Amino acid sequence: MEPNLAVPDEERLTGARETFPELVARLSRLSVTKHYDAYADVPWDDPGYRIEHDDPRWEAGDDHALGATDWYKSQPPHIRSRIGLHIVVCSMHIGVEFENILTRGLLGFAMKLPVGAPEFRYVYHEAIEESHHSLMFREFVNRAGLDPGKRGALKRAGAARVIRLAQRFPELFFLFVLGGEDPIDHVQRMLMRRDVPPLLRRMMQIHITEEARHLCFAREYLRTRVPQLGPFRRQVMAISAPLILGRMAREMLDPPAIVARTYGIPKSVIREAYRDGPIHRALVRASLDKVRALCNELDLLTRFSRPL
Ligand SMILES: [Fe+2]
Ligand SMILES: [Fe+2]
Repeated sequence: MEPNLAVPDEERLTGARETFPELVARLSRLSVTKHYDAYADVPWDDPGYRIEHDDPRWEAGDDHALGATDWYKSQPPHIRSRIGLHIVVCSMHIGVEFENILTRGLLGFAMKLPVGAPEFRYVYHEAIEESHHSLMFREFVNRAGLDPGKRGALKRAGAARVIRLAQRFPELFFLFVLGGEDPIDHVQRMLMRRDVPPLLRRMMQIHITEEARHLCFAREYLRTRVPQLGPFRRQVMAISAPLILGRMAREMLDPPAIVARTYGIPKSVIREAYRDGPIHRALVRASLDKVRALCNELDLLTRFSRPL
């Protein structure tokens, strides 16, 4: 039976008050009983799962920033579906890069843990799950046969800093994790309500189910650790939080330059859809709702950082 995606087990209250080590142990057990393999659990070679460029189910709908523009609607159907697929390919490509940074950070974080810490086992489960996600995303990109674009040197420089953060300032690292995982999760849950091709649906079911654990761990880690931080580190977190979250949401949700170039999307259309577009602004805001509420709860939104 497919999992109920509306309320993942991990986010359900367990009734009794669970301590952080108990929660970590429960998440680790779930990683054994409810986990997926990138190849065994996705029927890549099933004819119904083939990626067809002209499949109208790839088309971006009216709830999508670009899909709602007159320019997009005036394109022939095969271009509309190809653009929709190309955007999915680009987000999976970014997903692989994000999960790579995340996994390298997690492994560094694990090495700093004392023997006996329950987080060690959990973090390894998470690294294994992320590796399967990346295999799955890369397989999709390979099979789609559309150019996902290149990543810049500046972004690579930023990645090295984030990986170091996992050891030096893990609270800030897990905020970065939420900044990437929350927007992806939000978009995937939105897509699940649409008629998408079965391959994408299967991949999202797997991803949403396992990411629920990752999101839960990151949130509870922050709930446990941030109140124990000294005033200086708290201040650094309060100032960095909106910058990290804003940057990550843009990385995850902005229009891929390669798509604009490939299909000759006019700059004015990109501006209309993304920079000034109410659909995109609402999406960015909604995708950060949960993490913003968490920052509020942890008293990380100061008079200075709130407007940011
Ligand atoms: Fe993932
Ligand atoms: Fe994750």
